Amino acid sequence: MNISKVLLVALLSTTSLFADFIASDWLRPNSVPTPYDNELTPKRVELGKLLYFDKRLSKSNEISCATCHDPKLGWSDGLSKSIGHNGATGPRNSPTIINTAYQQHQFWDGRVKSLEEQALGPIETEVEMNMPLKELIPKLKKIDGYLKLFKEAYPKSEITKETLAKAIASFERTVVSTESAFDRYIKGDKNAISKDARDGFELFKNKGRCTDCHSGFNFTDGSFHNLGLGDEDKGRIKTRKGVEIPTGEMKTPTLRDITKTWPYFHDGSVKTLHEAVAICGNGGRFTNAKNLSLLIIDRDLNIDEIEKIVAFLRTLEGEEFNIHIPTKFPE
Ligand code: HEC
Ligand code: HEC
Repeated sequence: MNISKVLLVALLSTTSLFADFIASDWLRPNSVPTPYDNELTPKRVELGKLLYFDKRLSKSNEISCATCHDPKLGWSDGLSKSIGHNGATGPRNSPTIINTAYQQHQFWDGRVKSLEEQALGPIETEVEMNMPLKELIPKLKKIDGYLKLFKEAYPKSEITKETLAKAIASFERTVVSTESAFDRYIKGDKNAISKDARDGFELFKNKGRCTDCHSGFNFTDGSFHNLGLGDEDKGRIKTRKGVEIPTGEMKTPTLRDITKTWPYFHDGSVKTLHEAVAICGNGGRFTNAKNLSLLIIDRDLNIDEIEKIVAFLRTLEGEEFNIHIPTKFPE
């Protein structure tokens, strides 16, 4: 998207005009953005995949990234709040990693930017994998298989926290949404989705104004909004004159494969799509919540309309991921 288009979309979103879209706005680009210092190569992806599924990256040797971002559960974990080291529960719901490659910000509150920056966080976090990097790097260096694979993937370096993060990020860049019925519809197969789903898509764009925030092929503006869920989470922290201000705002999540990534919202408080749509579309959970987004307005969606939007959301479920999950790891 070029700058003028970004401005146009921003303008349309903040005025009372209905944003109009062209088909290509909804189609996944053919390539993923990659940083200049971590070109995507098959060797890096293959290494990153092993690391992603390898439980030895955790202190207990029982938890891998896939424990909480499981390909069989929409690359999430099906829990309200994730369970990590020693059964500890973290404060937030585990988001899917599908299409994180396209995000400018990672985490619900967007506190880090790149996947490289993100990857080391959960390894060290006590309630997740609880594995200090100063222990993990020597542990990996003792595994001959990994020494070889790192050398092949990053010939100019060895096993460091940087190459570890880069390899995992490379694998994540291959976890992109697969073709869904909606994609076939957008490409011109008008019968790929039902009449209800087509009506739902219109409601999604027009009356429901969901596209004010869930726009583009990944159904997110990449921005942050407070839905008045009424919990204590500080959300995105803004800093003004050195003072940190909690906003309670969370990143707009993708809606791709949304049928698989329940429970919903950052606190995992919502089990059904109907309820999530009603909260987003009909003014938030608590309409008088502090910092409620100005874009969260009661759109007066009735049960029939919510049902149609849900029918549309179901069409965003992609084909099964074609992935071979490693069962043998380097020794
Ligand atoms: C114990 C569960 C758990 C484990 C293990 C775990 N994660 Fe997460 N992950 C989470 C939770 C919960 C969040 C959201 C945290 C937040 O927003 O504050 C998250 C967020 C993320 C995000 C950001 C997604 C987004 O849309 O913002 C990525 C990417 C990610 N994890 C990748 C990984 C990788 C890679 C590993 C392994 C190195 C890993 N995770 C291990 C639970 C886990
Ligand atoms: C003001 C921006 C905004 C608008 C408008 C909006 N959403 Fe959302 N939506 C969000 C944000 C932000 C979240 C995550 C909030 C959180 O967890 O605190 C979210 C969460 C969701 C979720 C749950 C996703 C998940 O993975 O947990 C669904 C489903 C959803 N929205 C659908 C819709 C639909 C359908 C509409 C229109 C009726 C809509 N949204 C309108 C910003 C918006």
